[in-house]
Amino acid sequence: MTIKIAIDGPAGSGKSTVAKILAKKLNFVYVDTGALYRAITYKILKEGININEKKAILNIINNFDITLKSERIFLDGIDITEEIRKPYISQNVSQISQIPEIREFMVKLQKELANKNNIVMDGRDITTVVMPDAQFKFYITATEEVRAKRRYNELKANNFNISFKDILNEIKIRDKMDMERSIAPLKIAEDAIVVDTSDMTIDEVTNKLYDIIIKQL
Ligand code: DC
Repeated sequence: MTIKIAIDGPAGSGKSTVAKILAKKLNFVYVDTGALYRAITYKILKEGININEKKAILNIINNFDITLKSERIFLDGIDITEEIRKPYISQNVSQISQIPEIREFMVKLQKELANKNNIVMDGRDITTVVMPDAQFKFYITATEEVRAKRRYNELKANNFNISFKDILNEIKIRDKMDMERSIAPLKIAEDAIVVDTSDMTIDEVTNKLYDIIIKQL
């Protein structure tokens, strides 16, 4: 049996940063499932697919050629790591990730990865749907303002010209869509440990999770 660490939480909670560091410290595989949903969103937008056309969506799924390699993500052999962080992807990903066929495909892919490797996986439905059997479950969160500020600083550092107000608004819309959708909404699993990172540094959050895990491994 593999060791599974499942982390969920809303946008900008810091979960991916923490998950990545944890995986390195434990020498586990890290899977950022948000990046997978972003990659399929990129492909659908690039090909101008109408998301109501089931046949076209199935075609995208059947030809989804994705590789995760040393913190970089490749689609059809092309590095799209930076592209999928752009605002036009963030603004469309929640809607596209509600498509049932896409969720079904992603959950299957993610379960396979989790059954083959000791893994740290983060997303929105990891503790509840993808790895309900995980030995460790965390729900990482922070206030909307703190999360928006983090995204704002991140985008500014990468020279994106977008206002704080627009980011806060986008985060609110995305939270609502991710938490209220009918299939696999973001919610706190009954047995998850909740960590509010609003007043914590990345190191503090990572150490907290690491200590909990190490004690039980
Ligand atoms: O973690 P992120 O912000 O990069 O995720 C982008 C979007 O992908 C998120 O707003 C909803 C979707 N997502 C999902 O539906 N299920 C997951 N397990 C991970 C992400």
